[in-house]
Amino acid sequence: MELKPLKTIIVGGGHRSLTYANLANIESDKMKIVGVADPDENRRNSIAKLYNIPPERCFNTAEELAEAPKFADAVINGTMDHVHVKTTIPLLKAGYDVLLEKPFSVNEEEARELVEAAEKYGRKVMVCFVLRYAPFYRKIKDLILAGEIGEIISIQTSEFVSYHHMSTSHVRGKWNNSEKCHSSMLLAKCCHDIDIMMWLMSETKPALVSSFGCNKQFIKENAPENSGTRCLVDCPLVDECLYSAKRIYIDHPDRWSFYVWDALEHLENPTIEDKIELLKTSPYGVCAYKSDNNVVDHQTVSVMFENGATGTHNMVGGTSSGTRTIHITGTKGVIKGDFEKGEFTLSKIDPRPGCEHEDTVYDLKIGDDTHGGGDLDLVRDFVAYARGEELSVSCTSITDSLSGHLVVFLADKSRENNGMPEKVIL
Ligand SMILES: NC(=O)c1ccc[n+]([C@@H]2O[C@H](COP(=O)([O-])OP(=O)(O)OC[C@H]3O[C@@H](n4cnc5c(N)ncnc54)[C@H](O)[C@@H]3O)[C@@H](O)[C@H]2O)c1
Repeated sequence: MELKPLKTIIVGGGHRSLTYANLANIESDKMKIVGVADPDENRRNSIAKLYNIPPERCFNTAEELAEAPKFADAVINGTMDHVHVKTTIPLLKAGYDVLLEKPFSVNEEEARELVEAAEKYGRKVMVCFVLRYAPFYRKIKDLILAGEIGEIISIQTSEFVSYHHMSTSHVRGKWNNSEKCHSSMLLAKCCHDIDIMMWLMSETKPALVSSFGCNKQFIKENAPENSGTRCLVDCPLVDECLYSAKRIYIDHPDRWSFYVWDALEHLENPTIEDKIELLKTSPYGVCAYKSDNNVVDHQTVSVMFENGATGTHNMVGGTSSGTRTIHITGTKGVIKGDFEKGEFTLSKIDPRPGCEHEDTVYDLKIGDDTHGGGDLDLVRDFVAYARGEELSVSCTSITDSLSGHLVVFLADKSRENNGMPEKVIL
């Protein structure tokens, strides 16, 4: 029997939702975009135009959509972090399955509330943990499941956030202040890495968490002498500072464009002059040392698992280039690799005469979407999940995503208490 495409509604029409909705453009047998909800008129109208959506299927908000009679199978919810739960629950109640961006909640209470709501209304929620779908991490998962390194003793992961990514998202931009965005740096950036750690440990549950971290670099005390408050307005160091908005954004106008230039979305072809003018008033033009940021720029997390294995995650922001690394030690061997290079080595203990270890290098092709090729595979799996088909090993159902979120919340609590260990209660 030929399956019909999953009728899907875009809720929150930012760049993430559009990335996922792109599956409808390239595999129309899998997904069809049939509605949109977004309070931003410009975004709502351009999505309606793109997918030929009639006015009666365009809504201002998720809540308004949930009140209308159900007309699709599923929703892509790409709203911002702190409205994920409040926008998703009415949609579950209205009968939609939901592909929900990470983090799926911003605190433990609402995380549990959402898990309960999905159960109560018998709906499926899948969280956009795209890294689980990147070929790099999938291959590592397959090798672990095949027993290649034996039982895991330790997992060390790191994320190095490049200087331009750090300053755009976490010093100047949308995730720079937890009182405004309701997400910590660890939640916004590294819930992926902690999720990967939990996923690779499979059934083994986390037991204890502790964490340290602070904002060391992007503080007023570190501002260069004579610096101004806005790079393109009053700063004499505009051509030399490493964090000059002119150097980061005007000299590289495509860099993080969906964040930096989103206030120019209404213009068809914004010019460099439009961009310079915008930076004179937008958050992305503020001195990186004098912003209203309050999130950490580096943090370390330690996890003790129930079976005695340990995990660590190190996040460091402001590096010359960005990547993620992983080093997993098992009873029979080691896996170590670099996500950005798409390459890892499986090194197995080899006690044969004349041998020490047997190494195999895996070179995973990085796909042409972001997150090392994971974005569209995740949407394909969501379609399979919603249709009740067989799922891949990566499937990020909400219940399976809970432990990683809880570890993040507890790590932040521990960090606020100088590393005091926190017990994980699942
Ligand atoms: N999976 C990943 O790796 C990844 C990467 C980047 C961002 N994200 C996450 O994706 C999410 C979206 O990020 P973005 O930059 O695309 O966001 P965005 O701010 O560009 O888009 C969010 C949209 O939601 C709309 N909105 C607000 N309230 C609404 C409501 N009640 N009903 C319907 N729409 C509403 C806004 O008008 C806006 O257009 C965030 O949670 C972010 O953390 C995930």
